[in-house]
Amino acid sequence: MNGFETILYEKNDGIARVTLNRPHALNAFSVQMRDDLYEVLSAIRADDEVRVVVFQGAGEKAFCAGADLKEFLTAPSVVKARRIRAVRDLWRLFLGTSQPMVAALHGYVLGSGFEIALFCDLRIASADVVFGLPEVGLGILPGAGGTQTLPRILGLAGALDMLLTGRRLNGQEALAMGLVNQLVPRDRLAQEVDAVAQKIASCDPVAVQNAKRAVIKGMDMSLEQGLDLEWRLAAATKG
Ligand code: CAA
Repeated sequence: MNGFETILYEKNDGIARVTLNRPHALNAFSVQMRDDLYEVLSAIRADDEVRVVVFQGAGEKAFCAGADLKEFLTAPSVVKARRIRAVRDLWRLFLGTSQPMVAALHGYVLGSGFEIALFCDLRIASADVVFGLPEVGLGILPGAGGTQTLPRILGLAGALDMLLTGRRLNGQEALAMGLVNQLVPRDRLAQEVDAVAQKIASCDPVAVQNAKRAVIKGMDMSLEQGLDLEWRLAAATKG
Protein backbone atom coordinates (compact mmCIF):
# COMPACT_ATOMS: atom_id res chain seq x y z
CA MET A 1 0.00 0.00 0.00
CA ASN A 2 1.83 3.06 -1.23
CA GLY A 3 1.55 6.13 -3.40
CA PHE A 4 0.23 8.53 -0.74
CA GLU A 5 1.03 12.21 -1.20
CA THR A 6 1.60 13.16 2.42
CA ILE A 7 2.43 9.98 4.30
CA LEU A 8 4.64 6.92 3.94
CA TYR A 9 3.37 3.47 4.85
CA GLU A 10 5.24 0.25 5.49
CA LYS A 11 4.38 -3.02 7.21
CA ASN A 12 6.85 -5.57 8.55
CA ASP A 13 6.41 -8.47 10.97
CA GLY A 14 3.05 -7.25 12.27
CA ILE A 15 4.24 -3.65 12.74
CA ALA A 16 2.62 -0.97 10.58
CA ARG A 17 4.55 2.27 10.33
CA VAL A 18 2.91 5.52 9.25
CA THR A 19 5.25 8.46 8.62
CA LEU A 20 3.83 11.98 8.31
CA ASN A 21 5.83 13.11 5.34
CA ARG A 22 5.77 16.87 4.68
CA PRO A 23 9.09 17.78 6.30
CA HIS A 24 9.34 21.08 4.33
CA ALA A 25 6.23 22.23 6.26
CA LEU A 26 7.13 20.52 9.55
CA ASN A 27 4.62 17.78 8.62
CA ALA A 28 1.70 20.20 8.96
CA PHE A 29 -1.66 18.46 8.86
CA SER A 30 -3.40 19.30 5.57
CA VAL A 31 -6.71 18.14 4.09
CA GLN A 32 -4.72 15.79 1.84
CA MET A 33 -2.99 14.36 4.92
CA ARG A 34 -6.42 13.89 6.50
CA ASP A 35 -7.50 11.90 3.43
CA ASP A 36 -4.29 9.85 3.32
CA LEU A 37 -4.50 9.03 7.04
CA TYR A 38 -8.18 8.14 6.69
CA GLU A 39 -7.36 5.72 3.89
CA VAL A 40 -4.38 4.10 5.58
CA LEU A 41 -6.11 3.77 8.94
CA SER A 42 -9.18 2.21 7.34
CA ALA A 43 -6.90 -0.36 5.68
CA ILE A 44 -4.95 -0.99 8.89
CA ARG A 45 -8.12 -1.60 10.88
CA ALA A 46 -9.19 -4.29 8.37
CA ASP A 47 -5.75 -5.92 8.24
CA ASP A 48 -5.37 -8.84 10.68
CA GLU A 49 -1.64 -8.95 10.01
CA VAL A 50 -1.20 -5.57 11.69
CA ARG A 51 -0.70 -6.03 15.43
CA VAL A 52 0.58 -2.58 16.31
CA VAL A 53 0.81 0.79 14.54
CA VAL A 54 3.63 3.31 14.89
CA PHE A 55 3.11 6.98 13.95
CA GLN A 56 6.20 9.09 13.34
CA GLY A 57 7.25 12.29 11.58
CA ALA A 58 9.76 12.76 8.75
CA GLY A 59 12.61 15.26 9.01
CA GLU A 60 14.66 16.58 11.89
CA LYS A 61 12.46 19.32 13.33
CA ALA A 62 8.98 18.02 14.02
CA PHE A 63 6.57 15.17 14.45
CA CYS A 64 3.90 17.63 13.27
CA ALA A 65 3.53 21.40 13.73
CA GLY A 66 -0.28 21.23 13.72
CA ALA A 67 -2.89 22.09 11.12
CA ASP A 68 -1.56 23.51 7.88
CA LEU A 69 -2.11 27.16 8.73
CA LYS A 70 -1.55 28.32 5.16
CA GLU A 71 -4.53 26.16 4.20
CA PHE A 72 -6.64 26.53 7.36
CA LEU A 73 -6.44 30.26 7.88
CA THR A 74 -6.88 31.09 4.19
CA ALA A 75 -10.17 29.17 3.94
CA PRO A 76 -13.18 31.51 3.45
CA SER A 77 -13.93 31.07 7.18
CA VAL A 78 -12.90 28.89 10.10
CA VAL A 79 -16.40 27.37 10.01
CA LYS A 80 -15.91 26.41 6.34
CA ALA A 81 -12.42 25.07 7.06
CA ARG A 82 -13.85 22.89 9.85
CA ARG A 83 -16.74 21.74 7.65
CA ILE A 84 -14.32 20.58 4.94
CA ARG A 85 -12.36 18.66 7.58
CA ALA A 86 -15.49 17.10 9.12
CA VAL A 87 -16.43 15.38 5.84
CA ARG A 88 -14.27 12.47 6.93
CA ASP A 89 -14.21 11.77 10.65
CA LEU A 90 -10.59 10.75 11.01
CA TRP A 91 -10.64 11.23 14.77
CA ARG A 92 -13.37 8.67 15.35
CA LEU A 93 -11.36 6.31 13.17
CA PHE A 94 -8.36 6.78 15.47
CA LEU A 95 -10.58 6.26 18.49
CA GLY A 96 -12.06 2.99 17.21
CA THR A 97 -8.83 1.36 16.06
CA SER A 98 -8.44 -1.91 17.91
CA GLN A 99 -4.70 -2.37 17.39
CA PRO A 100 -2.46 -0.48 19.82
CA MET A 101 -0.97 2.73 18.41
CA VAL A 102 2.42 4.08 19.47
CA ALA A 103 3.51 7.67 18.77
CA ALA A 104 7.22 8.26 18.17
CA LEU A 105 7.57 11.95 18.94
CA HIS A 106 10.40 14.35 18.23
CA GLY A 107 10.71 18.11 17.88
CA TYR A 108 7.50 20.13 17.56
CA VAL A 109 4.30 18.28 18.46
CA LEU A 110 1.71 21.04 18.18
CA GLY A 111 -2.02 21.49 17.64
CA SER A 112 -3.52 18.65 15.62
CA GLY A 113 -0.11 16.94 15.65
CA PHE A 114 -0.37 16.81 19.42
CA GLU A 115 -3.96 15.62 19.14
CA ILE A 116 -2.88 12.72 16.88
CA ALA A 117 -0.37 11.76 19.56
CA LEU A 118 -3.12 11.93 22.20
CA PHE A 119 -5.16 9.35 20.28
CA CYS A 120 -2.21 6.96 20.46
CA ASP A 121 -2.03 4.48 23.33
CA LEU A 122 1.65 4.99 24.07
CA ARG A 123 3.81 8.07 23.54
CA ILE A 124 7.57 7.75 23.36
CA ALA A 125 9.41 11.02 22.92
CA SER A 126 12.95 12.21 22.37
CA ALA A 127 14.62 14.84 24.53
CA ASP A 128 14.07 17.63 21.94
CA VAL A 129 10.26 17.30 22.03
CA VAL A 130 8.00 20.37 22.48
CA PHE A 131 4.28 19.88 23.11
CA GLY A 132 1.71 22.63 22.73
CA LEU A 133 -1.84 23.59 21.80
CA PRO A 134 -1.56 27.07 20.22
CA GLU A 135 -5.22 27.12 19.15
CA VAL A 136 -6.77 29.64 21.56
CA GLY A 137 -3.93 32.04 20.75
CA LEU A 138 -5.08 31.80 17.12
CA GLY A 139 -8.69 32.45 18.12
CA ILE A 140 -9.81 28.88 17.42
CA LEU A 141 -10.46 25.69 19.35
CA PRO A 142 -8.61 22.38 19.12
CA GLY A 143 -10.85 20.42 16.76
CA ALA A 144 -9.19 17.03 16.73
CA GLY A 145 -10.38 15.78 20.08
CA GLY A 146 -7.84 17.63 22.24
CA THR A 147 -10.36 19.16 24.64
CA GLN A 148 -11.56 15.62 25.43
CA THR A 149 -8.45 13.46 25.13
CA LEU A 150 -6.01 15.74 26.98
CA PRO A 151 -7.90 15.91 30.33
CA ARG A 152 -8.29 12.13 30.23
CA ILE A 153 -4.50 11.82 30.10
CA LEU A 154 -3.22 14.87 32.02
CA GLY A 155 -6.12 15.47 34.38
CA LEU A 156 -8.17 18.65 34.52
CA ALA A 157 -5.56 21.07 35.87
CA GLY A 158 -2.77 20.18 33.44
CA ALA A 159 -5.13 20.05 30.47
CA LEU A 160 -6.72 23.43 31.22
CA ASP A 161 -3.28 24.96 31.74
CA MET A 162 -2.15 23.86 28.27
CA LEU A 163 -5.48 24.64 26.59
CA LEU A 164 -6.14 28.06 28.09
CA THR A 165 -2.64 29.51 28.20
CA GLY A 166 -1.02 27.76 25.24
CA ARG A 167 1.74 26.71 27.64
CA ARG A 168 4.32 24.48 25.97
CA LEU A 169 5.79 21.44 27.69
CA ASN A 170 9.30 20.13 27.19
CA GLY A 171 10.21 16.46 27.43
CA GLN A 172 11.05 16.43 31.14
CA GLU A 173 7.80 18.21 32.02
CA ALA A 174 5.82 15.85 29.80
CA LEU A 175 7.43 12.84 31.45
CA ALA A 176 6.79 14.18 34.96
CA MET A 177 3.13 14.85 34.09
CA GLY A 178 2.58 11.38 32.62
CA LEU A 179 2.03 12.63 29.09
CA VAL A 180 4.80 10.45 27.69
CA ASN A 181 5.64 6.90 28.68
CA GLN A 182 9.34 7.23 27.91
CA LEU A 183 11.77 10.03 27.18
CA VAL A 184 14.85 8.92 25.27
CA PRO A 185 17.84 10.54 23.53
CA ARG A 186 17.04 11.64 19.96
CA ASP A 187 19.38 9.10 18.39
CA ARG A 188 17.69 6.24 20.25
CA LEU A 189 14.06 7.13 19.52
CA ALA A 190 13.56 4.77 16.56
CA GLN A 191 15.27 1.90 18.40
CA GLU A 192 13.25 2.31 21.61
CA VAL A 193 9.96 2.60 19.70
CA ASP A 194 10.85 -0.52 17.69
CA ALA A 195 11.54 -2.45 20.90
CA VAL A 196 8.12 -1.51 22.32
CA ALA A 197 6.33 -2.26 19.03
CA GLN A 198 8.06 -5.64 18.74
CA LYS A 199 7.10 -6.52 22.31
CA ILE A 200 3.43 -5.77 21.57
CA ALA A 201 3.55 -7.59 18.21
CA SER A 202 4.95 -10.69 19.93
CA CYS A 203 1.94 -10.98 22.27
CA ASP A 204 -1.37 -12.67 21.49
CA PRO A 205 -3.26 -10.11 19.36
CA VAL A 206 -6.69 -10.93 20.82
CA ALA A 207 -5.39 -10.49 24.38
CA VAL A 208 -3.69 -7.23 23.43
CA GLN A 209 -6.73 -5.78 21.65
CA ASN A 210 -9.14 -6.86 24.37
CA ALA A 211 -6.91 -5.33 27.05
CA LYS A 212 -6.88 -2.05 25.10
CA ARG A 213 -10.64 -2.22 24.61
CA ALA A 214 -11.28 -2.88 28.31
CA VAL A 215 -9.24 0.15 29.33
CA ILE A 216 -10.43 2.60 26.67
CA LYS A 217 -14.13 1.67 26.85
CA GLY A 218 -13.96 1.27 30.63
CA MET A 219 -12.77 4.88 31.03
CA ASP A 220 -16.25 6.08 30.05
CA MET A 221 -18.12 3.63 32.32
CA SER A 222 -18.92 3.31 35.97
CA LEU A 223 -16.62 0.91 37.85
CA GLU A 224 -19.40 -1.65 37.97
CA GLN A 225 -20.02 -1.48 34.21
CA GLY A 226 -16.28 -1.57 33.63
CA LEU A 227 -15.94 -4.75 35.68
CA ASP A 228 -18.74 -6.33 33.63
CA LEU A 229 -16.93 -5.35 30.45
CA GLU A 230 -13.67 -6.79 31.76
CA TRP A 231 -15.46 -10.02 32.67
CA ARG A 232 -16.95 -10.37 29.17
CA LEU A 233 -13.68 -9.59 27.42
CA ALA A 234 -11.71 -11.93 29.69
CA ALA A 235 -14.16 -14.72 28.88
CA ALA A 236 -13.73 -13.99 25.16
CA THR A 237 -9.92 -14.12 25.42
CA LYS A 238 -8.98 -17.77 25.11
CA GLY A 239 -5.22 -17.37 25.63
N1 CAA B 1 1.28 25.07 8.71
C1 CAA B 1 1.90 25.31 7.53
N2 CAA B 1 3.25 25.49 7.40
C2 CAA B 1 3.98 25.41 8.52
C3 CAA B 1 3.42 25.14 9.79
C4 CAA B 1 1.99 24.97 9.85
N3 CAA B 1 1.35 24.69 10.99
N4 CAA B 1 4.39 25.13 10.71
C5 CAA B 1 5.54 25.37 10.04
N5 CAA B 1 5.30 25.53 8.72
C6 CAA B 1 6.26 25.81 7.66
C7 CAA B 1 6.77 27.26 7.74
O1 CAA B 1 5.86 28.12 7.06
C8 CAA B 1 8.11 27.12 7.02
O2 CAA B 1 7.88 27.05 5.65
P1 CAA B 1 8.78 27.97 4.62
O3 CAA B 1 10.18 27.46 4.81
O4 CAA B 1 8.18 27.69 3.29
O5 CAA B 1 8.60 29.38 5.09
C9 CAA B 1 8.61 25.74 7.46
O6 CAA B 1 7.44 25.02 7.88
C10 CAA B 1 9.58 25.80 8.63
O7 CAA B 1 8.95 26.49 9.68
P2 CAA B 1 9.66 27.74 10.43
O8 CAA B 1 10.62 28.42 9.52
O9 CAA B 1 8.57 28.55 11.06
O10 CAA B 1 10.48 26.94 11.54
P3 CAA B 1 10.94 27.51 12.96
O11 CAA B 1 11.88 26.49 13.51
O12 CAA B 1 11.40 28.91 12.86
O13 CAA B 1 9.60 27.53 13.85
C11 CAA B 1 7.54 26.61 14.74
C12 CAA B 1 8.94 26.33 14.16
C13 CAA B 1 7.68 27.31 16.11
C14 CAA B 1 6.83 25.27 14.92
C15 CAA B 1 6.77 27.54 13.78
O14 CAA B 1 6.87 26.99 12.48
C16 CAA B 1 5.31 27.66 14.12
O15 CAA B 1 4.95 28.36 15.05
N6 CAA B 1 4.44 26.98 13.34
C17 CAA B 1 2.99 27.07 13.52
C18 CAA B 1 2.51 26.24 14.71
C19 CAA B 1 1.01 26.34 14.84
O16 CAA B 1 0.49 27.35 15.29
N7 CAA B 1 0.30 25.27 14.37
C20 CAA B 1 -1.14 25.27 14.22
C21 CAA B 1 -1.81 24.81 15.46
S1 CAA B 1 -3.54 24.97 15.36
C22 CAA B 1 -4.10 23.41 15.04
O17 CAA B 1 -3.34 22.52 14.74
C23 CAA B 1 -5.55 23.10 15.24
C24 CAA B 1 -6.46 23.30 14.13
O18 CAA B 1 -7.30 22.41 13.88
C25 CAA B 1 -6.45 24.50 13.35
